[in-house]
Amino acid sequence: MGRKKIVAGNWKMNTTPDDAAFLAAAIGRHVKDHKVPLVILCPPYTSIAAVKAAVRGTEVKVGGQDMYWKESGAFTGEVSGRMLLTSGCSHVILGHSERRQLFFETNITVNTKLKAALDAGLTPIVCVGETLDQREAGQMEEVIGEQVVGCFDGIDAADFGKAVIAYEPVWAIGTGRTATPEQAQEVHELIRTLLRKTYADTVDKTPILYGGSVKPENAAELFAQPDIDGGLVGGASLKADSFIPIIAAAS
Ligand code: PGA
Repeated sequence: MGRKKIVAGNWKMNTTPDDAAFLAAAIGRHVKDHKVPLVILCPPYTSIAAVKAAVRGTEVKVGGQDMYWKESGAFTGEVSGRMLLTSGCSHVILGHSERRQLFFETNITVNTKLKAALDAGLTPIVCVGETLDQREAGQMEEVIGEQVVGCFDGIDAADFGKAVIAYEPVWAIGTGRTATPEQAQEVHELIRTLLRKTYADTVDKTPILYGGSVKPENAAELFAQPDIDGGLVGGASLKADSFIPIIAAAS
């Protein structure tokens, strides 16, 4: 399919600027010396500058974990796309299941953020995924369908072509319970099929990452699936010893 593999690290609410710089520097050294996929580090906002400085001179990209859709103004605690861009970010994660579950984000908020991220010139990494209850109730296809349609509502083909998608089954995030490569492949293929209706010309170029307990032990098998184009990695991205083998698995 010719899609470049991507490995993104979602550091969530972890790392001080010093921790982040140390970790990013180790990853940067590996990336500099090896032929690797596109590597994106998504530290907390407070560590973006430290990470950016630590990976200078390497191909490592930096991303935000979220953003607000307004450009500026009285929105205490929020950060805009332009702020991320001008802080050195090229990417931004949107609609992560923790944002949806803990901070009540919906497909509509994700869609609004997606439009703002594209306007700001950021590459969005749009997350979708079903909960365990939804999967067990046989609602996976319906939930994924609603998320995919809702998140990309009103996005034209040219903008869609700039997006990255991440399938992250909620039951696999931080639980140690990974989707099997077959389970993940099934949903990745479903996402591509759903999007083909609107984006027939671009969807085969859109990277779809898998996330949810990706580890050095399971990364290669997951990334070998035809519709899995890399990973969005949480826990295992917080140590160079576990993240570098995952990068290598995608190389
Ligand atoms: P995990 O998190 O790898 O720790 O399961 C993935 C994610 O939330 O993006």
